[in-house]
Amino acid sequence: MNIDCHCHLLPGVDDGCQKLEESLEILEAMKSKGAERVYLTPHLFCPRSPTDIAEIRNSWEENSSHLNSAGVEVLIGSEVFLSPRALSEETIPLGGTDLLLIELPTDARPPYLFEAISILQERGYRVIIAHIERYRYFFKRGIFPFSRSRIDDDLFRLKDVGVLFQINWDSLNGDGQFEDLFRNRMIEFVGSDKHYPRDNREIIDFSKDSYNLFMNDYYL
Ligand SMILES: [Fe+2]
Repeated sequence: MNIDCHCHLLPGVDDGCQKLEESLEILEAMKSKGAERVYLTPHLFCPRSPTDIAEIRNSWEENSSHLNSAGVEVLIGSEVFLSPRALSEETIPLGGTDLLLIELPTDARPPYLFEAISILQERGYRVIIAHIERYRYFFKRGIFPFSRSRIDDDLFRLKDVGVLFQINWDSLNGDGQFEDLFRNRMIEFVGSDKHYPRDNREIIDFSKDSYNLFMNDYYL
């Protein structure tokens, strides 16, 4: 099945689509590229896009039947910013599964990273880190052009404790992080992280062989 596991199309709750019409426009475009199922993942506990879980639930209740009228199965989830609140408060895993999509601060590796992940795992979640390629602190800057690996040991440690990784579709043609991660068989999921119709983020083209590098369908 062709699945986009990360986007911000739930209207009016975060920094993604504000109107239902925008969400439907993107869903139509996703469908034309082969999408069969899309998980809506509004930000939760994110400092740059504050949201309220009650508002997310309300918007979903109000809009889910419209969103599901575009011929693509649409399910609700969230993108949880790893913070103290994420460890104790209610969250929304992907479509009623135990898979929780989390995001991290981009400026520095949080010192509580492993402890926080283990708390989420104790709560019964399987953790997916969103757009893992975005966090520069997980990649070593190689001095030599052919240095063996640019992947920081922390990423291997995260895999060892069962954390799953998601990459953005846009990053497949990026600056090498994808190749490093893929060579080490580290990425399970791909998502578009689409926010609004003209945000310059590519939607996933499911006709391309690249989609088959990922395991969205296996896990979801
Ligand atoms: Fe996102």
